[in-house]
Amino acid sequence: MSETTKPVLPGPGASDYERYLRTDDLLSLQKAPDEWVHRDELLFQTVHQSSELWLKLAWNEIEEAARLVDDDDLAAANRLLRRAIDCYKLVTAALDMLEHMSPWEYTEVRKVLGHGSGFDSPGFRELRRVAKPLGEAFHAARERAGMSLTDVYVHGREHEHLYTLAELLIELDERVIVWRVRHFKVVQRTIGADVVGTQGTPVEVMGRLIHHSFYPELWDIRNELTRMNLPE
Ligand code: HEM
Repeated sequence: MSETTKPVLPGPGASDYERYLRTDDLLSLQKAPDEWVHRDELLFQTVHQSSELWLKLAWNEIEEAARLVDDDDLAAANRLLRRAIDCYKLVTAALDMLEHMSPWEYTEVRKVLGHGSGFDSPGFRELRRVAKPLGEAFHAARERAGMSLTDVYVHGREHEHLYTLAELLIELDERVIVWRVRHFKVVQRTIGADVVGTQGTPVEVMGRLIHHSFYPELWDIRNELTRMNLPE
């Protein structure tokens, strides 16, 4: 081993790559083949575990963005929100992988999930926690600038960062909704829409969450803007 490939970081692992990324721990977090009821458990755990990592990054960026908005550092907040939005795009894309599972074979996987349900996803729980303060921070910043929500859009060109922040908020909202729509179709394709989930919730009830929005006022304002400028 040469001087430059010899590990210098502390901790377990043969190389600094493995030590820094804790790959020994990370790669032992999935069931081993002798524990599988079906080999698709690896696919299923990989999608869920990697999604939880992206969701963790997302809510951390959203929480920090809210703090930056409170400090009136809108440009820095906007940077972080773009990252968070890309996280939701990644977890939405990851759902495609689940459709490689056969619905019949998935019934075997489902048997070993206990009462495990996405309702208990830490990443989504934290999103629900941080989304509201971000909205409040935006409205407080807008009020400090002496602007109504309508003003943010009508005078968006003179208030670039505030306008961009409003658009990033609605994009975040939209990305989560798109995830929910996609998740609903994956669920319908895998287990059906007329059954109950692992915690007894009818899938159809979960489907109604598609209509949930963190920032409904940002959707509503579109109506007002359109009506304001309708031809006489
Ligand atoms: C084959 C794959 C999947 C199936 C069959 C499935 C099934 C379900 C079902 C039936 C529910 C309703 C609640 C319940 O009774 O458990 C639910 C909710 C949920 N699932 Fe999944 N799910 C799958 C993949 C995923 C993935 C990859 C994630 C990503 C973390 C996820 C996150 C959630 C969340 C956050 C909810 C709560 C509802 C919401 O906030 O919209 N699910 N899922």
